[in-house]
Amino acid sequence: MRSAESLPGLPLLDTFARKHDYLRISITDRCNLRCQYCMPEEMVWMERADILSFEEILRFTRVAVSVGVTKARITGGEPLLRKDVVSLVERLAAIEGIEDLSLTTNGVLLRKLAEPLYKAGLRRVNISLDSLRPDRYHELTRRDQLPQVLDGIEAAADAGFSPIKINAVMMKDVNVDEAIEFALLSRTRPFHVRFLEYMPLDGQELWKHEDVVTGAQILARIRETGDVVAVESDDLSEVARRWRFEDGEGEIGFINPVSEPFCGACSRIRLTADGMIKNCLLGNDEFNVKRLMRTGGDDEEIASLIRLAVQMKAEHHGINRPGFEKLVRNMSRVGG
Ligand code: GTP
Ligand code: 5AD
Ligand code: SF4
Repeated sequence: MRSAESLPGLPLLDTFARKHDYLRISITDRCNLRCQYCMPEEMVWMERADILSFEEILRFTRVAVSVGVTKARITGGEPLLRKDVVSLVERLAAIEGIEDLSLTTNGVLLRKLAEPLYKAGLRRVNISLDSLRPDRYHELTRRDQLPQVLDGIEAAADAGFSPIKINAVMMKDVNVDEAIEFALLSRTRPFHVRFLEYMPLDGQELWKHEDVVTGAQILARIRETGDVVAVESDDLSEVARRWRFEDGEGEIGFINPVSEPFCGACSRIRLTADGMIKNCLLGNDEFNVKRLMRTGGDDEEIASLIRLAVQMKAEHHGINRPGFEKLVRNMSRVGG
């Protein structure tokens, strides 16, 4: 039988020798947008009693650090909707052993929160933005918030966040005609503009393989407009293939989970807002750490559950295989 090596002081390795040092913490499933590719128009939110408290999130994170986590990212739904998020950030940033703390947001509330978040110790934000055209943004997100997001990006830059990554999910016949415009944002500004391949996480069975636009297709289009060069990186677990315009201030990235799965170097585990450990974004395995914490489980038992989740992790996701098991959770209930 395979066995996972993960004793205190040692890296958290799975049975394929992948080191798990990156925890993605979803702190709410609620959102102020309704992106088509992420959720249906009408969502049933998690019960408040099921959502982990700050104390539970902090405790879990401390234990995760004790077994090898060094990077954490706060996600949602929309994490900035969680009451007192700034104080949570401050407490997470203060955990010894967290070397990199970041947050993924839709940007709507950044004008108000960018500066307090920066002061609380956050240094990196990734912002989702899939169209630069107000009518199309409205159609995609079912809400009319483009000006707020663009202003939020500026607020993040003013507050000192760096790098600021902009995530754009590209979809055929929807927004791919804006790819060049997005890429050019990284030429004149220090933004990292990243193109994400569309994944089956919409919770409405909207996703079709033929609607996926691959990173390679977008790179080919960008190359027609200017000289781009690859950015070398030593971090094999990075999800984005990085490029930049030769004369660019920022970068262009391609996150290609469909056409070029990056499972081989995966370093991620996830904590959902309702207290489940997930070992894969595109898998249905869940480990109930909320129940453990709420029934008197001690830190060693939490550590064991984290190790078990990592040990049970599959070699790769199966979205390109015919028998792919339908996902129980849509994106907003996992956090990306
Ligand atoms: P940094 O590289 O630390 O800046 O963050 P990130 O790129 O991991 O974070 P972000 O929340 O911006 O993630 C971008 C997107 O990458 C996610 O929304 C997912 O679509 C995709 N992604 C991240 N991790 C995984 C993963 O484990 N599997 C798959 N299939 N996609 C992932
Ligand atoms: N496919 C790819 N990316 C998605 N995101 C949300 N739903 C999907 C999907 N179906 C992205 C968001 C955000 C990140 C957390 O996940 O745009 O940038
Ligand atoms: Fe909200 Fe993000 Fe989902 Fe859009 S993708 S509905 S912003 S959680």
